[in-house]
Amino acid sequence: MPTQIENVFPASRTGRTTAWAVTAVVAGSTLVATAALAPARAAEPIFEPWRDAADRHGVTTGFALSPAHLGDPGYRAIAEREFSLVVAENAMKWDATEPSRGTFTWGQADQVAAFAESNDAELYGHTLVWHSQLPGWVESISDPDELRTVMYDHIDAVAGRYADQVDAWDVVNELWEGDGSRRQSVFQRVLGDGYVAEALTRARQAAPGADLCLNDYSTDAINAKSTAMYDLVADLLDDGVPIDCVGFQSHLIVGQVPGTFQQNLQRFADLGVDVRITELDVRMDVPASAADLQRQAADYRAVVEACLAVDRCTGVTVWGIDDGHSWVPDVFSGQGAALPWDAQYQAKPAYTAVAEALDARPDDAGPTPSPTPTSGPVDAECTVTWSHAAWGTGYTGSVTITNSGAEAWSSWELTTTLPGGQVLQQGWSADWSQTGSTLTASNAAWNASVAPGGTVQIGYNAAHTGDTSVPTDVAVNGSPCH
Ligand code: XIL
Repeated sequence: MPTQIENVFPASRTGRTTAWAVTAVVAGSTLVATAALAPARAAEPIFEPWRDAADRHGVTTGFALSPAHLGDPGYRAIAEREFSLVVAENAMKWDATEPSRGTFTWGQADQVAAFAESNDAELYGHTLVWHSQLPGWVESISDPDELRTVMYDHIDAVAGRYADQVDAWDVVNELWEGDGSRRQSVFQRVLGDGYVAEALTRARQAAPGADLCLNDYSTDAINAKSTAMYDLVADLLDDGVPIDCVGFQSHLIVGQVPGTFQQNLQRFADLGVDVRITELDVRMDVPASAADLQRQAADYRAVVEACLAVDRCTGVTVWGIDDGHSWVPDVFSGQGAALPWDAQYQAKPAYTAVAEALDARPDDAGPTPSPTPTSGPVDAECTVTWSHAAWGTGYTGSVTITNSGAEAWSSWELTTTLPGGQVLQQGWSADWSQTGSTLTASNAAWNASVAPGGTVQIGYNAAHTGDTSVPTDVAVNGSPCH
């Protein structure tokens, strides 16, 4: 049985745009790591951005952002291309925003809000009242009046600051124990059951335009915990307490999407609240096997399909982008590989599964920045167009090589000099390397042969420090191109 592995390489032009896939068909039934791709590849177009496909379903695709990673071009390209909703992975939590009483620190949270704004994405607020990542000074309060004042001040400051930007807040996070009893957080112990309604009511005042949600984990199935949530939401609605939405974290284990997932979402929707998958990841034992990566893809697909099947499901948020920046290995020993991109930002089967579940269209347009032709002698046997789509610290280079001679090539090697300290990060559709400022791209097995008049498209990402100019001295097989 052949094992099929799809690798997808995003390429940005004006922010979020085009990407291509390379499909590797590897003979033999043994498991194959995605990093060890064998030959016999065929280039094929992949998908339009997730967010564009999701738009047609009236849902958003979200991701948890840690702004420190935005300097990494691979991370940033995916963040900009695929997602129409942004949530702070940590930056809006209590310990980040109010580490000591009345002293607020907004640096990271503002960066998250600014990224959402600049990328025309919704901003999701996470989270106002939670037992975890809660500073010790709050934890130690035992006087109800004092704790209520502190909770209200925090909600006023944080929800108030982003009142014009945040579309929905996780007002209270993780209020349940697994058996459906209330978690004994400081808020529960000191203020009693009513703290949830108090927090929601205060949040409505602080951010009147935001939807107000409760959010929890292990509530994805119909079980004691989700039923406790369900009963609470019904009571809150009966009592006229502002509650608009429920978040289902969906930190899942591979192969374990609950059979009642969709039915569970639907019963909340039937109460009259929106639902959302808020923190999706699907973890597995690492190193990941190809079989588990395929099962993971099926799980991602099932989650997206469940959301799309429920009218009031507003979308799916992935808890990160890539396996190199995921909370999973830090918390679940021996587990990881939980996200749709691997640590090198290569798309995993889960990426494709989500795109397909969203009915994403193939994206075969290729990059369309104005090409900047390079110059060279007129008798060259090759023509090259080279363009860069740049952002702050990186760019995506798109290169089209044409065999303009009379002889077919059975293999090819492109060489050039990268201007101004540009540094290759990753490339696709060729074997790329850089030595000093010399950049080399050699054919992959599947695009080695180029007939006269034939073209090859390759691309790469690079870091820059200001000079984003294209190379001017390109050669193929030692022959200068124009
Ligand atoms: C996690 C973050 O991803 C980590 O970086 C941090 O160290 C701990 O918190 N449920 C939640 C999220 O609601 O806020 C948690 O995020 C993951 C579990």
